[in-house]
Amino acid sequence: MPTRRRLLPLFSLLAALPLAAQSQADVVKVGLILPMTGQSASTGRQIEGAVKLWLAQSGGKVGGRKVEVLVKDDAGVADTTRRLAQELVVNDKVVALAGFGLTPLALATAPLATQSKTPMVVMAAATSSITEASPYIVRTSFTLPQAAVSIAEWAAKNGIRKAVSLVTDYGPGNDAEKFFSDRFLLNGGVVADKLRTPLRSPDFAPVLQKVRDLKPDALFVFLPSGQGAQFMKQFGERGLDKAGIRLIGTGDITDDDQLNDMGDVALGVVTAHHYAAAHNSPVNKKFVADFQALNKFRPNFMAVGGWDGMRLIFKGLEATKGAGGDALLAAMKGQMLESPRGPILVDAQSRDIVQDIYIRKVERVDGQLHNVEFSTQKQVKDPGKLK
Ligand code: PHB
Repeated sequence: MPTRRRLLPLFSLLAALPLAAQSQADVVKVGLILPMTGQSASTGRQIEGAVKLWLAQSGGKVGGRKVEVLVKDDAGVADTTRRLAQELVVNDKVVALAGFGLTPLALATAPLATQSKTPMVVMAAATSSITEASPYIVRTSFTLPQAAVSIAEWAAKNGIRKAVSLVTDYGPGNDAEKFFSDRFLLNGGVVADKLRTPLRSPDFAPVLQKVRDLKPDALFVFLPSGQGAQFMKQFGERGLDKAGIRLIGTGDITDDDQLNDMGDVALGVVTAHHYAAAHNSPVNKKFVADFQALNKFRPNFMAVGGWDGMRLIFKGLEATKGAGGDALLAAMKGQMLESPRGPILVDAQSRDIVQDIYIRKVERVDGQLHNVEFSTQKQVKDPGKLK
């Protein structure tokens, strides 16, 4: 008897082997490369949480085939992103690559997407030119010009005459600075100085001192998701809010991932962005409730880019019956989705996202800090491509 009992699991394992091999062929693999560690780890955590939610909601299947999402941590290092992408394409035979938490990570992978004809869904990175780096790239995040132009328009119409800009010194920061200042000047404003901080370990003290001395009506800021809380703390500590300098920016600085812990200094900050957890729609209310139930934290704009990106891949795979390559790319182009952020379109020509941009103000709602939307610009195409 003991011998038989010991053998049984072995027999059942052997019997299951051919079945397992067969079902393996029915698995469609998607590679998800995210910064799960390092300075941009919150972006990885948000997108991974959103993808988990979509897999739970959809049952993780398209047309009876299981979709397996392989999550890889690039720690925000471009060489690692490219190496992981190569392994996912060559060894794992993924039908699509997704994620890309920072612009340099997306740009480093773009040539591989082109060479291997692998669709690459950019869920986070937001420099305008990214979609031009490969014809296989589609984007579900946003572009900095979309947000920067909208806040420049708002500022010029709301009594702000003299501004200073402060951005992180790389792709999205260049876009934010250029598109904010160009539009602000066009509307009669003056940009007294254009300040920059490095992507890695920024120190805001010297630039904030400069801003204090320049005494603008407003400071316009773009910093990548994850840096807002530290900045806001120093803005308050140096008394810039009390000195009558208004803080405006792209919504990256009042990121829902950190906003609730920023305290009173964040109150009244006006930003432009494509998503707020407080967005008032049935689709978003359900998204936020389901996301929080699963992940135990508030979704931010990165989560929405991840959730929509995975839905887009699933929609594409449904159309191609699980095939990747050019067929999947074609199936994703021109898709329209009702997102938690509002209606979105993946423009078939540019492969970039067209979406509503909201002007929002930080307010306390039921004891929690939120970006409360108060005006909307409908269906904004990336101004970075309207040359
Ligand atoms: C980017 O690197 O493109 C990026 C990262 C974080 C943001 C926005 C843009 O919040």
